[in-house]
Amino acid sequence: MVKKNSCVFISGAGTNLKALIKSSREYKFPINIKLIISNKRNAMGLLFARRYSIPFKVIKTKNALFEKELINEINKKKISLICLAGYMKILSKNFINSYKGKIINIHPSLLPNYKGTNTFSRVLKAGEKKTGCTVHFVNEKLDSGKTILQKSFQIDKNESIQTLKKKTQKMEYKAFSEAITKLYMLI
Ligand code: GRF
Repeated sequence: MVKKNSCVFISGAGTNLKALIKSSREYKFPINIKLIISNKRNAMGLLFARRYSIPFKVIKTKNALFEKELINEINKKKISLICLAGYMKILSKNFINSYKGKIINIHPSLLPNYKGTNTFSRVLKAGEKKTGCTVHFVNEKLDSGKTILQKSFQIDKNESIQTLKKKTQKMEYKAFSEAITKLYMLI
């Protein structure tokens, strides 16, 4: 199977990145990870780039030319899928339009509910019975692109922000890879 080249953007722990790297090592998984981008030099997730010898780049988002630099890197590596895995920066319209239909994101709620940050506390406060995660295409509006795949679970009575986060993230690790497989089945 000829795998497509992908890159993963991170800002933090990179546990979703780790799950994607694991999947990408399976023969039947449709993508290889050729590049990792972080907007934080000390992102814990860069550990996985080092451990699995995947090229990575830390971008300085304060530099006005950073997106130009990003586009160069992505084009050089012939990347056809960009996975945002806990990337906490907003990408510009220009960047998003340069890769229309090729940028996907994972979000820790059942979109369209609870876009943005602090999802777990908001979900608990609202007394929701169910939550989960969503993998979706990225468009110009925050957490609003078309859903590729969603997974959900029931919220227990004694749930805390920590338990909710743990359960959601465990679900994310499967959802992200399943969404990518689904994506390439559709093409
Ligand atoms: C995940 O929960 C993801 O849904 C959100 O950011 C978190 C990233 O976690 N967008 P990690 O860096 O993959 O551990």
